[in-house]
Amino acid sequence: MVLTIKAQKFEGLAPKPPMGWNSWNKFGCQINEKIIKEVADAMASNGMKAAGYEYIVVDDCWQIGRDSVGNIVADPERFPSGMKSLVDYVHSKGLKFGIYSDAGTATCQGRPGSRGYEFQDARAYAKWEVDYLKYDWCFHGKQNSEASYSIMRDALYKAGRPMVLSICEWGTTKPWEWGKSVGHLWRTTEDIINCFDCKNNWGGLGVLQIIDLHTEIGDYSGPDHWNDPDMLEIGNGVLTPAEERLHLSMWAMFSAPLMAGNDIRNISAETLKLLTNKEVLDIDQDILGISATRWMKYGDLEIWFKPLSDNNYAFCLINRSNQSIAINQDLKTTIKKLKVDDSYVVRDLWKHKDIGTTKENITGIIPAHDVLMLKLTKK
Ligand code: GLA
Repeated sequence: MVLTIKAQKFEGLAPKPPMGWNSWNKFGCQINEKIIKEVADAMASNGMKAAGYEYIVVDDCWQIGRDSVGNIVADPERFPSGMKSLVDYVHSKGLKFGIYSDAGTATCQGRPGSRGYEFQDARAYAKWEVDYLKYDWCFHGKQNSEASYSIMRDALYKAGRPMVLSICEWGTTKPWEWGKSVGHLWRTTEDIINCFDCKNNWGGLGVLQIIDLHTEIGDYSGPDHWNDPDMLEIGNGVLTPAEERLHLSMWAMFSAPLMAGNDIRNISAETLKLLTNKEVLDIDQDILGISATRWMKYGDLEIWFKPLSDNNYAFCLINRSNQSIAINQDLKTTIKKLKVDDSYVVRDLWKHKDIGTTKENITGIIPAHDVLMLKLTKK
């Protein structure tokens, strides 16, 4: 009798949004094993690992070609010790290792893609004990996205090592509609670029532009199948502290995967403090995994809310404008269907301070491009 195993997604690998670091935003193609090891050292010891960051993901440009039998080959100049040794090093730090490939014939930087080599590549990653695969969408020609990503899902399953599958097709074929049975997260938009409010002609969106694409798709996201609004640009020298707060706050409101994208070997005390704000990270990692809803838009002021476990809620009031905005907001009756009564304590998650209860209106000033992030906890 022949027993065939039906290939499927490895279930349960991402009950909470994955957290970690990815090489692309800061280093692009300029990566090597020394940088990756130093980043792992930093993450393991600077408080980020303790705050929940666990994946070290090596993005494009680690690979250089294929050998005579088609095995994927790492760039020997940049990764002279080979990928297995690098994975072992990352594991020795108590962290997990992520790798990158592409569903088409080449990666976005023209390195070998996995098209036609899916099973062979999956076996190589499994042999190296990789934990996470980011799978891109360049050079896909006329390939069907769901079918292409499903081949890699099946290949990973057959290779036998549980790996998170991060779908990176930029939202072009609505992966939120088909991705749940295929991968654990899917990019929802074009690439993030390092700015607050801008857009590139060639593709690339600022923080606000990405937020705007998440008003309708929150319901598709949840435990083990997350919307992914792309990696963080915090600590990369362009966003102001207010903009960085708003960026992290809204990613947490979306239950987004949180992949730091800066040089954490040389992280400033302020950036580290921001990235490890436990009260904000707890909103991202809340076990219900519900993505926020935009409830109100009064010009440049938006109010988003997110239901949390234990009948609690998170609220974000964001100021998109270049001027400060005064607020006087009744959170209790604003959102009638939430049934928020008088008995909630309201806490400011950036000031780490209780600022009142739902009996009274929330008043104050939100500076330009800043956020008021609140948690409502039932007494
Ligand atoms: C695409 C992806 C990015 C990054 C680059 C690498 O643009 O969306 O996140 O992986 O490719 O070339």
